[in-house]
Amino acid sequence: MSQHCYSGSHERIFTVIFFSVCSLFLLLLSFGCSQKPASLIYLDEIGAQHISAGWSEPKANKSVDGNPLTIAGQVFERGLGTHAESNCRIRLDGKALRFQALVGVDDEVTKTQRGAKRASVEFIVSGKDKNNIKKTLWKSGVMKAGEPARQVDVSLKGIIYLDLTVDDAGDGIGYDHADWCQARIEYRGLKPEPVKPYAAGPYILTPPPAPEPGINGPKVFGVRPGSPFLFTIPASGERPMTFAAERLPSGLKLDSSSGLITGFIDRPGTYSVKLIATNALGRAERDLRIEVGDKICLTPPMGWNSWNCWACSVTDENVRQSARAMVEKGLINYGWTYINIDDCWHGKRDPKTGQIRSNEKFPDMKALADYVHSLGLKIGLYTDCGPKTCAGYEGSEGHEEQDIMTYAKWGYDYVKIDWCYCEGKDPRVAYRKFGETIKKAPRDIVFSICNWGLEKPWEWGESVGGNLWRTTGDITDTWASMAGIGFGQAGLARYAGPGHWNDPDMLVVGKVGWGPELRPTRLTPDEQYTHISLWCLLAAPLLIGCPIEQLDDFTLNLLTNAEVLEIDQDPLGRQAEKVVEGDDYQVWARELEDGSRAVGLFNLDAYEHRKVAVDFASLGLEAGSYRVRDLWRQQDLGVFSGRFEAEVPPHGVVLVRLWKK
Ligand code: GLA
Repeated sequence: MSQHCYSGSHERIFTVIFFSVCSLFLLLLSFGCSQKPASLIYLDEIGAQHISAGWSEPKANKSVDGNPLTIAGQVFERGLGTHAESNCRIRLDGKALRFQALVGVDDEVTKTQRGAKRASVEFIVSGKDKNNIKKTLWKSGVMKAGEPARQVDVSLKGIIYLDLTVDDAGDGIGYDHADWCQARIEYRGLKPEPVKPYAAGPYILTPPPAPEPGINGPKVFGVRPGSPFLFTIPASGERPMTFAAERLPSGLKLDSSSGLITGFIDRPGTYSVKLIATNALGRAERDLRIEVGDKICLTPPMGWNSWNCWACSVTDENVRQSARAMVEKGLINYGWTYINIDDCWHGKRDPKTGQIRSNEKFPDMKALADYVHSLGLKIGLYTDCGPKTCAGYEGSEGHEEQDIMTYAKWGYDYVKIDWCYCEGKDPRVAYRKFGETIKKAPRDIVFSICNWGLEKPWEWGESVGGNLWRTTGDITDTWASMAGIGFGQAGLARYAGPGHWNDPDMLVVGKVGWGPELRPTRLTPDEQYTHISLWCLLAAPLLIGCPIEQLDDFTLNLLTNAEVLEIDQDPLGRQAEKVVEGDDYQVWARELEDGSRAVGLFNLDAYEHRKVAVDFASLGLEAGSYRVRDLWRQQDLGVFSGRFEAEVPPHGVVLVRLWKK
């Protein structure tokens, strides 16, 4: 019995083991069956439309210039061609397996020696996990043209957002054509999807101007003794308005209905003039300091330039329309002054005298200048140090003095001088030739050096007579371009001051397109608030690059906030510096003439709102309480001690001014 019992329990044990093993096997089998085989998705299938690029448009299965993707002679069928700075975010679900690609600079940049030398990028693969913690997964290191592709192969375990970034490797984005070849994601869960960067619809922050008079614009104005004087008192408020001025130096006269002051001042010195504007609702007064000496352009020039909208399709009529609209839309009431013609106005030289003539689109350069002056505005034009301009028109090489004197005779107030066809020249020598003549010219001419930051013009620009100098290559209407240039100005503040300014290039708001076809800027509204805030903090020349007659309400509002523009035009002329830098946020600040500080809190992340804070000590402020005012909303935010923090939208800004209590 006991034996039977014994053998019965053996059987039971055997049965239990048998069934357990079978169920384990079945379990494993079913698990194995539910585990789908991994899928592959190529980046070109996700598409190029959600990738940002610092220049041109990213392309699927082609380089950014539209050629076959090629790295060091190796041609790839699949992948994405882009341009630094570039970013692309892909949503995963934590279950994706790996990301693989071959990356490098596209061979197309080696077509020119300059491109072959200057292209340099870094590819960065990073991710955010479910706790929103950012991890760098892979970095290529600096890659230059002609280097063989480098391989990325990283695990995506736990990654919710994958970020594929190409940065400029610290030397600007020029020629940075970057390829992600054979780029693919192996995944098991949800199909990877591109994430669109955040973009709010246009929203207006600034309240309409008060109907009572308000005097805006610069508080200091420089003119040389004996030069024609032209200054329109910039005043907002309901019309009709009448203007008056006390202590006007002899030689000047004021038109009391337009506010236009003209004439000549012979005696050097500092004159403090009281400007008065009156309408049915009230009266405003403000002092204007007129400095008569050898310095002009004491605040950064503000105006319009034809390039970012019309480029080479610009005509005399385009210029007149923008000038008229500057007055009719009221921008002149905020200090917008210069109407500048860029490339493509030159015709052929007079074969006998060598004097430059305009082409058929500009029938009479002097008549155009007279017209712009009659509106109370000033006018500028463009030329090049080389034999030709960038667009292939007649340049000024060998005619430097003759051309400047011609512009002066026609009545031009501003000249931008470009650097095409100048390879091998020393820009100091080339620009000095113009600077010397400008000094001798019978009228004041603002001298804008445009050699794209080559040979550090901030170190010598002022000494050759320059009033402003471009610090980088051309801007375009993308975040990567605008932010790359704007935030790349760190370290240059000490070179700027009254009469000599760093120029981070013209504004890309409103309708742009490099003509004749125009389109709305691709910058989001928040990016445009960042653009204007940053340029004002940087004491940058402000040249609107869209047709003024086509300004929409959002853009008009953006360009007529007197409190924001006052930062740009502050008489101290001190350019902002970066005071805080985080992974995806920065704070820039500048000191103003009244001892207050202008501070921009910027969120550099494209996708998420974030809080940005600044300690008052990092602004060089003494301990104590400060009144903080939001300049875009024109609202006091309260009194703060020690620090200030604000929630900032993606790629957006909160711009404040702080006064000691
Ligand atoms: C260069 C300048 C631009 C513009 C064009 C005109 O690219 O940097 O600002 O003047 O030339 O051709």
